[in-house]
Amino acid sequence: MDAGCVRSSKGNLSPDIAVSGRNDHLAALSGVIDRANPAFGVAPRRQLNGTISCSGGFLAACALPVTAQESCVKNGSERFALVTGGGGFIGSHLCDRLIADGVRVVCVDSFRTGRRSNLAHLEGNPAFRLVEHDVIDELPAELKRLRFTRIYHLACPASPPHYQEDPEHTMMTNVVGTRNMLRLAESVGARLLLTSTSEVYGDPEVHPQNEDYRGWVNCTGPRACYDEGKRAAETLAFDFRRAGRADVRIARLFNTYGPRMHEDDGRVVSNVVCQALAGDDITIYGDGSQTRSFCYVEDIVDGLLQLMESEKADGVPVNLGNPDEMTVKALVDLVVEMTGTASRVVLRPLPQDDPRRRKPDIGRARDLLGWEPTIDVRDGLARTIAWFSSAEAPGWGTAAATGTDGALIQAAE
Ligand SMILES: NC(=O)c1ccc[n+]([C@@H]2O[C@H](COP(=O)([O-])OP(=O)(O)OC[C@H]3O[C@@H](n4cnc5c(N)ncnc54)[C@H](O)[C@@H]3O)[C@@H](O)[C@H]2O)c1
Repeated sequence: MDAGCVRSSKGNLSPDIAVSGRNDHLAALSGVIDRANPAFGVAPRRQLNGTISCSGGFLAACALPVTAQESCVKNGSERFALVTGGGGFIGSHLCDRLIADGVRVVCVDSFRTGRRSNLAHLEGNPAFRLVEHDVIDELPAELKRLRFTRIYHLACPASPPHYQEDPEHTMMTNVVGTRNMLRLAESVGARLLLTSTSEVYGDPEVHPQNEDYRGWVNCTGPRACYDEGKRAAETLAFDFRRAGRADVRIARLFNTYGPRMHEDDGRVVSNVVCQALAGDDITIYGDGSQTRSFCYVEDIVDGLLQLMESEKADGVPVNLGNPDEMTVKALVDLVVEMTGTASRVVLRPLPQDDPRRRKPDIGRARDLLGWEPTIDVRDGLARTIAWFSSAEAPGWGTAAATGTDGALIQAAE
């Protein structure tokens, strides 16, 4: 943090900000929670809207009146990002990359589906702060004052069992949460990137799916809270853009996998890997001929960073995913081979509204960003299996051994 900014902030803090005398805790802001310190991994959800403590002047230095903020920008500290959903699978990798790239990051997460352990290694990093907050709720005033230049809006449960657990909350996260973030982008002049999804194409009638395809979505089905929620989120983002209220980028992510996936969230790769490692039955729903295209998380994070900074991608959604299509059966065979498991493969009926085919047309990402995946599925699976086999993967053995909701094993995300 730029020391000059810290100093210049002190006299300008708002009345609800108390500044402590300690150098490592320059300010305590009320109304927000920062769990960046010892509370990592322990804070229960009910403690939302407590207090925020800012070590190293990180937030305090940014909660400045405009003139002081301008001096921060002049001093080169303008790379300041908000990552919503930063405690989740993709978001935590994104936080890592941003920080490695020299960006200061505030992560906002309710930990509805994310995990504190995903961010534990960032504890104490002066470039990182964690704020526990639900994006549906009005943003704490202190957050609204921070001069973010980039907002990566990822907050939303991505796996079917998670987003179907509380469909109303999922829909509101996508609609109200996205509006809150767009309003923040509008008020601070930040560019906002929304992580939308291939689910906006529903059970597609065209293959592969390019961004002009308008989708085949069931608005009354159990997946609609997510699919239609994301469609509405895109609508809001484009409305803000059309009205000149916010600069937005839209990423439509296809199946992503890698370390820090939830072991029990019904996504194909994590389910199959965990079942194989535990020696449990590996469940395939349908006959396994349905296809998916799996993109390793590192490639997706590269794509998100490039899309955010792209001027050419203004005003258009961009697919990010791996066009190497494979059947679920082929994935299972590969995992069985790579883990050497003795697990049996069992077949079960397909769940409702599950897409039969999924493959991104990434022509636009190639043209506009020069982006395409670089990590092939064998390499990505090796890294993922290694992670699930390591002590870093929290407690998957229990979830896999007790069995997951197999009806979701081929779930699209
Ligand atoms: N993983 C995929 O294959 C995939 C595919 C398409 C789109 N996406 C999108 O990418 C984003 C990240 O997905 P992921 O796989 O990391 O999912 P995830 O569930 O691991 O992470 C989502 C994060 O958002 C947080 N969150 C959820 N609702 C929130 C709320 N109301 N307020 C604050 N935080 C909230 C969760 O606690 C979690 O940390 C999501 O927007 C998802 O829709 C993911």
